[in-house]
Amino acid sequence: MKQTIILRISMTLMLIFILGCNNNKGEKEMTTPIVQNLYQETHRPQFHFTPQANWMNDPNGMYYHKGKYHLFYQYFPDSTVWGPMHWGHAESTDLLNWKHLPIALFPDSLGCIFSGGAIVDNNNTSKLGTKENPPIIATFTHHDFVGEKAKTNDFQKQSIAFSLDGGYEWIKYASNPVIPNTEKIKDFRDPKVVWHEPSQKWILVLAAYDRVKFYSSANLIDWEFLSDFGIEADERLWECPDLFPIKVEGTNEYKWVLLVSIQKNAPNDGTATSYFIGDFDGTVFKSEIENQKWLDWGTDNYAFVTWNNVPKEDGRIIGIGWMSNWQYAQVVPTENWRSAMTLPRELTLVKSTSDYSLYSLPVKEFKTLRGESTTYSQIDILGEKVLEGSFSTSQAELDLTVDLKKTTANSFGIKLQNEIGENVLIKFNKSERKMFVDRTNSQKDKFSDDFFKSVHSVPIDFEKEKMNIRMIIDAASVEIFINNGELSFTSIFFPSKEFNTISLFTNNRTFSIASAEIYPLKSIWLEKEEEN
Ligand code: FRU
Repeated sequence: MKQTIILRISMTLMLIFILGCNNNKGEKEMTTPIVQNLYQETHRPQFHFTPQANWMNDPNGMYYHKGKYHLFYQYFPDSTVWGPMHWGHAESTDLLNWKHLPIALFPDSLGCIFSGGAIVDNNNTSKLGTKENPPIIATFTHHDFVGEKAKTNDFQKQSIAFSLDGGYEWIKYASNPVIPNTEKIKDFRDPKVVWHEPSQKWILVLAAYDRVKFYSSANLIDWEFLSDFGIEADERLWECPDLFPIKVEGTNEYKWVLLVSIQKNAPNDGTATSYFIGDFDGTVFKSEIENQKWLDWGTDNYAFVTWNNVPKEDGRIIGIGWMSNWQYAQVVPTENWRSAMTLPRELTLVKSTSDYSLYSLPVKEFKTLRGESTTYSQIDILGEKVLEGSFSTSQAELDLTVDLKKTTANSFGIKLQNEIGENVLIKFNKSERKMFVDRTNSQKDKFSDDFFKSVHSVPIDFEKEKMNIRMIIDAASVEIFINNGELSFTSIFFPSKEFNTISLFTNNRTFSIASAEIYPLKSIWLEKEEEN
């Protein structure tokens, strides 16, 4: 097993024996500390999902059912660092305002509950519910720490649980695991299921060290191995795969997307979510793009997976990612909770003359958080211009269109800063054909070498006449979307005082803005503090 997991596991082995991951009791009381000023703490995101308290990583088991989007997540209710995993649970009617719910899945005698998916078994193929009351089936990995310590190598196995009340009470299937680890693969996890219409079968995809494996089933219980998909000579750890069909924009053609999170050597180091586009014939996935692509070029969008059962009339592919990176997730300076999710994003598939690309943008519901905008038209900047208006910089959206033809500057950008000199710079450089995100000076106290060690970058095409930059800034993150989602870049930061200024700057010559709008953004938590 790779270093990061080993580190995480060794850090918590002691805790596990104290707290009993492999307990037969099945359930433990949640020990959420009493927190004052909940959701107003330093660094607390105001419109991104966070747990009330304690540790969270990957999003899990997402589905839509009876008007609610359900979100589960890797959760350790006893500490702000990773530990014996449970599935935390929240629901929302609009993908923005979340209601926290009791823990859905607890560790049991087979182990802790690692990542996975959930589907609504609308035709009751599993016979675990009825046609009138279809069951929800969660697929997840049982991770057995006792087996891991004894080096059995088969300590990760795939199991299911079902719910007959829409997802509030869960029953673990009595004959778990449903996919044992017969090949004894140490990294064998994160099962996610999709319905394959042509073969009328469920397809399960899971990560097995440096590849994904596909299985099929008619009833979600009996699984048959189909095939493997990987890259030759890849030595990186693959995690949290997702498979789904998607329509090519502006056509009636469908392609299959395989999302895979990669635990090493992402474009800006550490962990990130990647994808392949191709065809899946019910047995084998064939990629049609030459290279694996990145869903997000920033450091902080991992384990991104999609919602099941979004109504056909809606038709969107909606997903969410864990807004952190295993390189430093456990040491970021938040006090009583750790980690946030990205904004929920809609994915679309765009075909160019030679290639397919996944575009991502915040779901359209997000615009309901906007307050009244401050608008700027046609400004030419030389030096630095502070954008003024009635918004708070640490909770704002900037929608900026750059006139690339009129921009004579080689280097220009956007700066977030506070009065004590901490900042995040988003810089564009035409001759280098890149966007840079520099958070190396975002906090004086360098809490992690990996977090501060380098300026991050992504290739950018400056050939167009205009470039649109949409930036969504929360207390501890910026999500950047270039040219309508063609490229996305997510970065977290933790300034010791909130950023209170946004400015546009150029080092030499003119930075020309065709139009700019800044919106204040509402908090999703404050009004509901009591309810939550
Ligand atoms: C990804 C991951 C998964 C695993 C889970 C454990 O972040 O390592 O592969 O199931 O986290 O919390």
